[in-house]
Amino acid sequence: GDRETFPGAPDTDYANAELREAAKQALVKVRNSLGKTYLPLINGEYVQTETAIDSVNPSNPSEIVGKIGLISVEQAERAIEAAKAAFPAWKKTPVKVRAGILRKAAQIMEQRRHELSAWICLEVGKVLQQADAEVSEAIDFCRYYAKEMERLDGGHNFDVAGETNRYRYQPRGVAVVISPWNFPIAIATGMTVAALVAGNCTLLKPAETSSVIAAKIAEILVEAGIPKGVFQFVPGKGSQVGAYMVKHPDIHLIAFTGSREVGCRIYADASILQPGQKHLKRVIAEMGGKNAIIVDESADLDQAVAGVVQSAFGYSGQKCSACSRVIVLDSVYDAFVERFVEATRSLNIGAADLPSTQVGPVIDATARDRIRDYIAKGKQEAEVVLEMDSPENGYFVGPTIFTHVSPTAIIAQEEIFGPVVALIRVKDFNEALKVANGTDYALTGGLYSRTPDHIKRAGEEFEVGNLYINRTITGAIVARQPFGGFKLSGVGSKAGGPDYLLQFLEPRHITENI
Ligand code: NAD
Ligand code: ALA
Repeated sequence: GDRETFPGAPDTDYANAELREAAKQALVKVRNSLGKTYLPLINGEYVQTETAIDSVNPSNPSEIVGKIGLISVEQAERAIEAAKAAFPAWKKTPVKVRAGILRKAAQIMEQRRHELSAWICLEVGKVLQQADAEVSEAIDFCRYYAKEMERLDGGHNFDVAGETNRYRYQPRGVAVVISPWNFPIAIATGMTVAALVAGNCTLLKPAETSSVIAAKIAEILVEAGIPKGVFQFVPGKGSQVGAYMVKHPDIHLIAFTGSREVGCRIYADASILQPGQKHLKRVIAEMGGKNAIIVDESADLDQAVAGVVQSAFGYSGQKCSACSRVIVLDSVYDAFVERFVEATRSLNIGAADLPSTQVGPVIDATARDRIRDYIAKGKQEAEVVLEMDSPENGYFVGPTIFTHVSPTAIIAQEEIFGPVVALIRVKDFNEALKVANGTDYALTGGLYSRTPDHIKRAGEEFEVGNLYINRTITGAIVARQPFGGFKLSGVGSKAGGPDYLLQFLEPRHITENI
């Protein structure tokens, strides 16, 4: 298959004592470099800003990870002008050279792997092992999109006798990448390098809470040789400069990953033709999910319990792919609930940088309060079977499980983005599929079953972008599980898949009568 030609970067084997020590040292080193100031990169220069924000460690908010200068609207304007000016030369730069910069960036990330994982751990509260997997994903995105662009660069020839017909791809122009905090290196890198290798000049506006890691991406791209103006790092307030750039007439493409609310706003804003604008903007929007796992009567319950625990509580439920609904068939419901609750109860909750931690903090106080509000609402609609305690210091929410949840309850319909699970009891597999499909989202989904007919029907009827049978529903791997959803989860683009780069390109056709 296609995968054989793309071996991904291996994750760190933390069972190896030497690598474990290296990771520990990196954590110490990064801790000693906290609190520095990071500035935006506009037209090849790090520029001063009028305002700055602190990015703090969610496990211990008194620890300032870094200070980030936020660009003003005037600085956004300058960045867009610089991108416009750099575009003609970047468009003409051979794909081999553009791809070479991505490969160099991958190599730097590989060399700085432990250090980058440590930054992720401290800035967004992700445990090291999962941060490390994310670094692998960022490396894979660089190498895979480099290879993909080289493939697409050949275009298609539809020649006939007496006539050549050449179908070729060209870049769209100036791209704005707007990234979320939950995969601060993988997703920001993936969208950025896809836009760049396709020949677009690209501005990266990261989520405020993960701006330090984004500054590291900028550092790496500069070191890898990205020309000035071609890539610019424009940290800023989403609702202010983010929205300004989306609406700007000189922007051709917006690659967004984040919440449904913001994604829909961007989709709408980008569709309005601005004075002087002579093109339609392309929007790639990847949004939230309300992902379900179905457990049927034939499921291996040990496997199902372990898979649901990991899918629901890994990174405190803050993955767009996370499981937040478990739909269990009547005959195994009680047994599953009992074992699931016991397995969850044994999870260690604590600071993300402690080796024993399995569930770390949530991203910030706003997220913590929002999740707590959902838990309070859940208590009015359903029954709590487990609400775990969590450390006082830091933005923690203990894993919480609700039972006997109605499929239409708020906690069964809205994306909570925290360690909260709704258990839904159904009478048969037909009802399970109906409930699974009964939300606005279609991102990931899972089935634990040993019934061939159920597995087949799930493949046909379970409406999700990524369906996983008898395994966890998180942790998609580049070029193996191209990732992304449809319905209100996104436009159906697949990061890390063979169609992804096409969205960053414009096809042209030339016929010559010879
Ligand atoms: P968010 O929507 O709050 O923010 C995402 C980005 O949008 C940030 O950079 C933010 O500054 C910016 N932004 C905010 N308002 C804006 C505006 N009006 N105009 C332009 N930009 C604006 O999302 P988040 O909290 O960072 O991320 C969590 C969300 O992302 C969850 O809903 C999750 O499901 C989703 N997500 C989806 C995927 C996927 O592949 N489908 C992957 C990761 C995260
Ligand atoms: N790509 C990430 C996952 O699959 C979101 O978990």
